[in-house]
Amino acid sequence: MATMERPKTMSDLPAQHASSPATKAEERARFFNSGNAFNIKLPDVPNAVFADEPKRALDPATPTGFINCDASAQMQCAFAATSPFLLARYARINAGEQLSETPKASGVVHYVIEGTGTTQMGAETIAWKPGDVFVAPGGIEMTHAAADAAAVLWVCGNEPQLNFENLEAPTEGNAPTNLVHYTQAEIDNQIDHIYSFPRDPKEPGLALVFSSDKQQDGRNVLPTLTLAMNTLLAGAVQRPHRHNSVAVSLVIQGDKCFSKIDGVQKDWAPWATTITPPVSVHSHHNEGDERAMFLIVQDGGLFYHARAMGFEFVED
Ligand SMILES: [Fe+2]
Repeated sequence: MATMERPKTMSDLPAQHASSPATKAEERARFFNSGNAFNIKLPDVPNAVFADEPKRALDPATPTGFINCDASAQMQCAFAATSPFLLARYARINAGEQLSETPKASGVVHYVIEGTGTTQMGAETIAWKPGDVFVAPGGIEMTHAAADAAAVLWVCGNEPQLNFENLEAPTEGNAPTNLVHYTQAEIDNQIDHIYSFPRDPKEPGLALVFSSDKQQDGRNVLPTLTLAMNTLLAGAVQRPHRHNSVAVSLVIQGDKCFSKIDGVQKDWAPWATTITPPVSVHSHHNEGDERAMFLIVQDGGLFYHARAMGFEFVED
């Protein structure tokens, strides 16, 4: 009989089984220890820019369908994910065509990059155009239809969060949001409104934060998901800071803009999706002549609820 060499320390022990299980339930038990349980090394969330995905989505030769911003390989994640808890995608719907989805998510954010069309969900239909934002509950089929020109949407939801726990999407009526539509005209109106009030001159950035009737108390669009249209004045720099939430952002308007992530410059690209990794020290810089705009989705609700957001400004 082969003899197993005795591990030198408890850190070298493999998972232990019950020595004499009397039941199936006892047999399923496994034991680790303080030396070997907490040393799993996961790859960092990549400091990535997805610039090819929007090019493909905007290419007239691309068929109707979804294009994932997928960093699951870099993160060694078993399901499609842009960050551990968020998945961003582009949806292309060619002229006169339809695209249906039933997201396995609590809810999904959409931004209309180009084209006009409709989204039908149950008895409700909304008509959208470029610059509109809408949030839809997960678990319910919705059908996007492009009008007489192709439409491209940016889509971001918390599918990886549900996949991580092997949870199903909410059933009809139980989702934390209904269908909520923020038109481009109303977004502009709300941004103008907040710009009309005085603010700390040291704060060059200014964000419009989206919520809804169901999510008003949490000031989010979903319990775990924060959605903001961030603006940055021409020539301005948003101070270096960090937080424990990730940010997955869509560049809407950002000529000559870049971010610095832990000291590394990351240039913005038209309609790109960028990941700001959690805990990284980051700043945003606008060296162009017009106000920059970027739509940010964060898993901030998770950290607010855990009382662990960890937001702080960091000196240059
Ligand atoms: Fe930030």
